[in-house]
Amino acid sequence: MGRDGGYEDGYRSCDCFWGREPGSLLQILPRFRPSLAGLRVLDAGCGEGKNAIAMARAGAVVEAVDCSEAAIRNALAAWPDADRVCWRVEDVMAVDLGHETFDLVILYGLLHCLSESEIRTLVHRCKLATASNGLHVVVAFNSRSQNLEAHPGFDPTLLNHMDYLHLYSDWRIICENDSDLSETHPHNGIPHTHSLTRLIVERQ
Ligand SMILES: C[S@@+](CC[C@H](N)C(=O)[O-])C[C@H]1O[C@@H](n2cnc3c(N)ncnc32)[C@H](O)[C@@H]1O
Repeated sequence: MGRDGGYEDGYRSCDCFWGREPGSLLQILPRFRPSLAGLRVLDAGCGEGKNAIAMARAGAVVEAVDCSEAAIRNALAAWPDADRVCWRVEDVMAVDLGHETFDLVILYGLLHCLSESEIRTLVHRCKLATASNGLHVVVAFNSRSQNLEAHPGFDPTLLNHMDYLHLYSDWRIICENDSDLSETHPHNGIPHTHSLTRLIVERQ
């Protein structure tokens, strides 16, 4: 399985692996960006699109990219009328992100699926692809404490929380924390806990 985390099995075994509500950082985003209308958003590793759809409903225009066909199939089935979302089945490492193309980049659960050098390369490319005063929203497993029982064979890359902060040392940190997430996935029912880095950062 390597780095896919068993998500592919999850996407194939049910039509809603991650739920329909946006992640916690996107729920608090309006504190920092009261209007998302017209913003250009990249949701990299979008899964079944719970974050992409929330941004689109708030008026943003979203490129939602995932390497899993099954994930995008579930997204299309859940939200057939999402006309402000462009769903793409692609390896984000191979996507041309352009220069200052986006106002908001969402990296929600993606980075720990990549190698360390890919993480550094992708964050750098996403920073170049972000317009002035644009935001990144980042959530990733970190090295503090991982229970991977529910993800047999998964070998995530575990940077420490400070490494993630250093990746954004030249941006303004709007909010950051290193805290636990306890969850149970629908395909295997195993309760488990991950330590997560959560960041909202702004290009100066
Ligand atoms: C933990 S899931 C998070 C899904 C979604 N962002 C959410 O919060 O519901 C990570 C996602 O990253 C995708 N992924 C992993 N490596 C990828 C890559 N190189 N390019 C695109 N997507 C990738 C996986 O298929 C999976 O859907």
